[in-house]
Amino acid sequence: MGRSGDTVMLATEAPLSERDGVLHSWSVQADWNAPTVTGGEGAWLHLADGRRILDLSSLAECSNLGHQHPRLVAAIRAQAEQLCFVTNAWGAQPRADLAQRLLERSGFEGGRVFFTTGGADASENAVKIARQAAGKPHGAIIARDRSYHGATHLAMALSGDTRTRAQVDPAAFGVHHVPPPYAYRCPFGSRDADECGRRAADAVSDHIDRLGADNVAAVLMEPNAGTNGIVPPDSYWPALRRHTADRGVWLIADEVMSAFGRCGEWFAWQRHGEAGRPDLMTLAKGLTGAAVPLGAVVLSRDVAERIEHEMLYAGLTYCGHPLACAAGVAALQAYADENLIERSRALGSALHAQLLQLQQRHRVLGDVRGGHGLFAVLELVADPVTRAAHAPWPQTPAPLRALVDAAMAEGVSLAVRGNLILLAPPLVIGERELSDALALLDRLLTRFFPNEPTAMNGGMR
Ligand SMILES: Cc1ncc(COP(=O)(O)O)c(C=O)c1O
Repeated sequence: MGRSGDTVMLATEAPLSERDGVLHSWSVQADWNAPTVTGGEGAWLHLADGRRILDLSSLAECSNLGHQHPRLVAAIRAQAEQLCFVTNAWGAQPRADLAQRLLERSGFEGGRVFFTTGGADASENAVKIARQAAGKPHGAIIARDRSYHGATHLAMALSGDTRTRAQVDPAAFGVHHVPPPYAYRCPFGSRDADECGRRAADAVSDHIDRLGADNVAAVLMEPNAGTNGIVPPDSYWPALRRHTADRGVWLIADEVMSAFGRCGEWFAWQRHGEAGRPDLMTLAKGLTGAAVPLGAVVLSRDVAERIEHEMLYAGLTYCGHPLACAAGVAALQAYADENLIERSRALGSALHAQLLQLQQRHRVLGDVRGGHGLFAVLELVADPVTRAAHAPWPQTPAPLRALVDAAMAEGVSLAVRGNLILLAPPLVIGERELSDALALLDRLLTRFFPNEPTAMNGGMR
């Protein structure tokens, strides 16, 4: 350390670079090579090197309102000038406003909202509250293989994520996993999507019956695609709802990624109407358009009433932070005023149709999923007939990595997970911007995955 006037300085001349000083999430630190972002507008990100990048994944599928949405910025600024912080044990007007709006939008009249700081702690607290409300403090939780519920310890245990199985033992947390409603590779051997969905829901009820319903507190699942890229067939969620209700087991919908227009509804379960209504749901990401960290657990009246006179053993210093809640109120207002839920539904359906056309030209596109909102999943395969993958899940094949790098070099950022491309642009993306990005994807698929004859059909599709 050296001294310069009154300022204590590090001995090194250059400031500590981000690459050397920060641990970056889900990265091998030695390989970290991501861009630095300095600003943004709409679906565009501004990079430190002066480039502009079209964001086709809303960063972590969270910036649903685009970047630097003026209403969010104004709401955060106004709240900061009035009151930056008050603990969640006390009252704060933006928190009350946001809870009221969420309960109204979801039709959870008489329910309550517990605010968290993000998705993982929403998963944790949903499980804690569900167990308490069920009167089963150690009750089993049933979740799904190939799911993601966050990266804190319990959330990792809940997640059916092969990457983290060595770090955490689900059984130690009372968590059980069942096969997913993955119609393209149905774990139950069915070739019919709806039947696969029903079989996957039956696997949950069979598991509850095996454990004994008295020993199971809740089932926690994503109602639509998450980063697993699995879009359940329509038969799945309502069947899950029936099976859990019949057995007196709470159903928790993890809506962290699927809510706020991403899947064409305020909350993805709403596509099924009342037949899809869960007992609890978790929210984060789009709740503030990712402008400020915030998550939530929304409880139905029934769940809320059961814990009304008991101590709630839950709290985080920053949960329900006024700055975040003010951003949440502004975000909900922006989704409504700008018709973004309807826009996502319409653009998502058009996107899906364009992707199906793309699939006709590229045999590497084994499956195209989504279409309920601006969330589409492309599953890449080595052979569309046998559905053989290029690499075992969750490895990303080298040509797909190269495709993503080439897209970035051309100014478009794509999210990839294993052999999947996840398209989840901000809901404010322009139609022209989206079609230009698809044209680029078309070119890059031709470049990195030139069509070759399949094993069985000589290349015809
Ligand atoms: C479905 C789902 N649940 C929970 C989480 C965890 O949220 P967070 O990263 O805010 O902790 C995520 C994050 O991607 C998610 O996709």
